[in-house]
Amino acid sequence: MKNYIFTPGPVAVPSEILIEMAKPIMHHRTKEFESIFAEVREGLKYIYDTKQEVFILAASGTGAMEGAVVNTLSRGDKVVVVNGGKFGERWGKICRAFGLDTQELMVEWGHSVDPADIKKALDKDPSIRAVLVQASETSTGAMHPTREIADITRHRDDVLLIVDGITGVGVFPLPFDEIGIDVMVGGSQKAFMLPPGLSFAAMSEKAWKFNKTSDLPKYYFDFKAAQKNAEKNTTPYTPAVTLIIGLAAVLRRFKEEGRESMFRRHAKLSLAMREGMKAIGLDIYVKDVPSPALTTVVAPPEIGSSKVIKALSSEFGITVADGQDQAKGVIFRVSHIGDIEKTDTLFFISAIESVLHKLGYKFNYGAGTKKASEILFGDK
Ligand SMILES: Cc1ncc(COP(=O)(O)O)c(C=O)c1O
Repeated sequence: MKNYIFTPGPVAVPSEILIEMAKPIMHHRTKEFESIFAEVREGLKYIYDTKQEVFILAASGTGAMEGAVVNTLSRGDKVVVVNGGKFGERWGKICRAFGLDTQELMVEWGHSVDPADIKKALDKDPSIRAVLVQASETSTGAMHPTREIADITRHRDDVLLIVDGITGVGVFPLPFDEIGIDVMVGGSQKAFMLPPGLSFAAMSEKAWKFNKTSDLPKYYFDFKAAQKNAEKNTTPYTPAVTLIIGLAAVLRRFKEEGRESMFRRHAKLSLAMREGMKAIGLDIYVKDVPSPALTTVVAPPEIGSSKVIKALSSEFGITVADGQDQAKGVIFRVSHIGDIEKTDTLFFISAIESVLHKLGYKFNYGAGTKKASEILFGDK
C-alpha cells in the first residue's frame, strides 16, 4: 500500500528534493559547497523576510530553541513563557534548565494568548527580560498573535521577543524585521519540506545587544561563531551537507512560488480542511485563531481519535498525529505543510469520511468532500 504522511512534522518531502539529496556527498570546505551555502543564506533571508543572518544548525528545532535562550539571556534573568501547549511547556523547561526565573503565562489548550495579559505581566514587573512564545502551537493547532505581542515588546529596549516559529516560518506571514521579532527559530521538517535534522535562527540588533552580556553556557549553539562563519559561507562545525543541498533546492522552489503564494496555499488547504470537517459534524479543537500549518480535529467522542488514526493507517496508508497529553485520544492533527497539495487534502477528507462511516459515525456522507472540493477547486 502507498504511504501518505499527513503529520504536522515530519512532512512529505517532494521527490525532486529527495533526488537532489541522493547525489554523491561533497566536502563542506570547498568552493562548490560555499556557493550553495551562499544561495541558501539568501533564500532563508527571503523566507524570514529579514536583513539579518539566519543560522543553520545541525539539530532538530529544539536545538535552535535552546540556542535562542543561551545566546541572549543571563543567569537568573526573569522571563515570561506563554504556555498554551506542549511546545510552550518546552520553552519553560529550557528556561528552567538554564536557571532562568521563569514565569509561565498559562493559556487554556486550543486558545491563543491574549496580548493584554503579556502587557500586564511586563508592566507589573519591569525586570522581565524576555517573552517566549510559539507563533503556532503545534500541539493544539492554535496560532498566537506574534505581531500584537511584538507591538508590546518592540518599544521596550530591555525586553526581547523570542518566537518559536517552527510551524510558523514559511507557513504564514511573520516578517521578522517589520514585526520586530528578536529571535525566531524554524525547523527543516515543517514548511521547508525537508527531512528532520536542520533548525534555523535569526537574531535582531536588540538580541545582539543582549548577547554581549549573556552569560549562559554555550558552545555548539554559539550564534556568534555561527555569524562569523556564515559571513564566509560556512559553518563552525561540519554542517548537515545533504540537508543543506536539499534546502537549496527547496528555497529555489519557494522563490519561484513566492512567499505570498506559499501563505495562500496553506491558508486555502487549512480552510478547506476545517470547513470539510465541520460539514460532517466534527468540531475543530482551536477556539480562537487556527494555525494554517495544521488542523486539529475533535474525533466523535463515542469513537475517539485513536481508532480513527488506526483505521486511516490500516485502510489508506495515511499517518496523522494523535493529540498529546490531555488531547490524546481526543483529537487528530493533520498537516497542511510539506509536499501536500489540494488533491492530497481532498483525498484525506474522503478517507476520513470512509473511516468514520465504517466506525459507525452517523453523518451526511460525502458532505465534507463536497464542501472542501468547493473551496479548493471552486463550485462552478
Ligand atoms: C511549535 C514547535 N516547537 C518545537 C518543536 C520541536 O521541534 P523538534 O522536534 O524538531 O525538536 C516542534 C515539533 O513538532 C513544534 O511543532
